[in-house]
Amino acid sequence: MFFKDSFNRLSFVSTLISLIFSLISGDILHAGVSLENTSKREDVEKARRVIVTPKELDRMSKLPGDIGPLPKITAPSDNPQIKAKIELGKMLFFDKRLSGDNSISCASCHDPRKGFSDGKERAIGFGGMELGRHTPTILNAAYNSLQFWDGRAPSLEKQALGPIEAKVEMNLRGDELVSRLKKIPEYNKRFQEVFGEDVNFTNVGKAIAAFERTIVTPDSPFDRYAGGDKKALNEQEKRGLILFLGKAACSQCHSGPNFSDNSFYALGVNQKGPLKEDFGRYAVTKKDEDKGAFKTPTLRNIALIAPYMHDGAFKTLEEVIDFYNDGGGSVFNKSEKIVKLNLTAEEKKDLIAFLNALTGKLPEVTEPQLP
Ligand code: HEC
Ligand code: HEC
Repeated sequence: MFFKDSFNRLSFVSTLISLIFSLISGDILHAGVSLENTSKREDVEKARRVIVTPKELDRMSKLPGDIGPLPKITAPSDNPQIKAKIELGKMLFFDKRLSGDNSISCASCHDPRKGFSDGKERAIGFGGMELGRHTPTILNAAYNSLQFWDGRAPSLEKQALGPIEAKVEMNLRGDELVSRLKKIPEYNKRFQEVFGEDVNFTNVGKAIAAFERTIVTPDSPFDRYAGGDKKALNEQEKRGLILFLGKAACSQCHSGPNFSDNSFYALGVNQKGPLKEDFGRYAVTKKDEDKGAFKTPTLRNIALIAPYMHDGAFKTLEEVIDFYNDGGGSVFNKSEKIVKLNLTAEEKKDLIAFLNALTGKLPEVTEPQLP
């Protein structure tokens, strides 16, 4: 490859830039989930100085930071994807009988018509109570290595059982749910068919997780671009992508195919809503440096899921960009990767144009007929 292109200056330069980019910004991806620093302030500043033109960008066969099309979903070996299981999981996802007073289903908060979020600043839970955190989308949650803003659930299987039993969310004990479902012959039959055993709580989690692994969104304009269709992004979106990788330093954290490094950072987002303080990742690790640190969320379909951040602090992408442009908020443990950006008004627009190109093909999910 190198030899074939070696007389083409542009291509050579791009390869070089791509290399520099990946050296300093990317390839920190699988570094794990701790705050152990992956990239120092100077590295961020170096990445911010790399200047690439849209033409040079078009010549890169692989984008820095490992951003690119979503890979195929992998399911855990003890919970393979089976059609009947996915159907069962979808029913459970929409079934309000999974809550204490039959009023709330998973879909009440993760609404397919709202990008599988709820459009609210913070979720409204059991009995109409406002919760402390914003409902994240579950589109592409299958690609998270840890679930929740603080990463406290290790898998979709385990995560699904949390909200059912949480008093402030669906408020139904697992054993009660199981006896409820056992009284519904159609559910009994389906659990038998799929798992070869009677309804149990673990299998409720497995079925819902299998359904969630189908709610993924390939084929955004960005995916088509990264897949080789250089016309899939317009000039403005390409300038936005270049900023994302360079001057705006977004891919320092929003990296990999799902635009998340699955790590946790304190940005200093103002705490809004009923919680005075949200310790974030600290609740899991008890390490001081994790106070107020949250998981880097995916940016796929970001245009569909305002408001933003763990507490819904920002209403628009413009507000988010202004926050980053100012160098984040003020906290003692603010990530070293958060720096003042000095973006022009035009550059902010370009960046947002790129973020809007991350909306993929949404799965068609309609409310199933419940047994
Ligand atoms: C009352 C609203 C509400 C209900 C009902 C609800 N969720 Fe959530 N969901 C949330 C909120 C809020 C969070 C973030 C909580 C946190 O991080 O502490 C969340 C987080 C998640 C996540 C993690 C996503 C990520 O990116 O980390 C998944 C997956 C999820 N919910 C699936 C479900 C499933 C499955 C159900 C039904 C069994 C369900 N939720 C019911 C509000 C809700
Ligand atoms: C230091 C790592 C880091 C960098 C650099 C970074 N982000 Fe983030 N991003 C995060 C974390 C962590 C959150 C969640 C913070 C919270 O909820 O308090 C987040 C949240 C977001 C959200 C809200 C997502 C949602 O679902 O609510 C958007 C949009 C966003 N970032 C875009 C960007 C853009 C654009 C850039 C570049 C200008 C950028 N980020 C740079 C780590 C980072």
